[in-house]
Amino acid sequence: MRTARICEKWDLDFNIELKDEGDRNLHKRSYLHYATSRPDLVACKSYATEWLFKDIVDETKEYTAIEYMAGIGIQTIIAQNTFKLSNHTVNELDEGCIDHLSNSNFPLDLEVLGNDARELLRKGDHYDLKFLDFPSSSILRVTREWNAEFAKLFKSKPRVVVWTDTSITYSMKINGHRYAEITGVETKTNDDYVNGYSKWLFENHGYSIVKAAFRHRNAVYFAAVEGLHETESRYFKLKDTNDGFYFLDKQGVSLEQFM
Ligand SMILES: C[S@@+](CC[C@H](N)C(=O)[O-])C[C@H]1O[C@@H](n2cnc3c(N)ncnc32)[C@H](O)[C@@H]1O
Repeated sequence: MRTARICEKWDLDFNIELKDEGDRNLHKRSYLHYATSRPDLVACKSYATEWLFKDIVDETKEYTAIEYMAGIGIQTIIAQNTFKLSNHTVNELDEGCIDHLSNSNFPLDLEVLGNDARELLRKGDHYDLKFLDFPSSSILRVTREWNAEFAKLFKSKPRVVVWTDTSITYSMKINGHRYAEITGVETKTNDDYVNGYSKWLFENHGYSIVKAAFRHRNAVYFAAVEGLHETESRYFKLKDTNDGFYFLDKQGVSLEQFM
């Protein structure tokens, strides 16, 4: 058993056997591998997520929550330590992650599902807090490949929707004009992109982005609530967030050392 410390506050146990996936196709690797091979990015994600979740709902009230792509449970443990949850459902496709989520030490017992997120979204549900931590996403993909799922998600009137966008991996000079065609907002910078996305979201689903947490140069986590709101953005850099995720027995450990 290994224990990872998250945001210098919360401990997450890994009671599972980890397999080296270095020889597996990059896109088929489990998030478990990513967490052990790029702990710096997971550390940055942890602090970005901690900030993102703060002050977006009344934290004295009770909520139900679902994560459609729960991975190794970073968002899970941060959510449980931020929100007062009466029920927490987590979903994953990856068997290793499902095993880990079922056998770790979360403060509140999880209901663990092993479905395709797309199917769950199509079926619909009524959780208050909904988390969609895409491995990769942009407004192009959301409007093309996840359009019906997004419509159903927002139609169920959740208190908060959190999702991940990776379009900032590339300069807005490359795809900015394509984003602008969708949002109607000239898109030259990351902030233009977020403003355009928020405007599009309000016009199409009645929600807008209240917070945007940028993780390094390759992902941004959005939190949206109903109504039209200004977006508060914060940038999290790798060099400032190293202690956001590490194994207690070895800081910055590699997968080989971890096994
Ligand atoms: C960025 S990781 C999630 C990280 C996780 N939220 C955490 O905090 O540890 C994305 C996850 O989505 C899962 N995934 C990808 N496509 C999926 C799908 N269609 N349905 C369910 N899970 C999916 C992957 O297995 C991967 O673990």
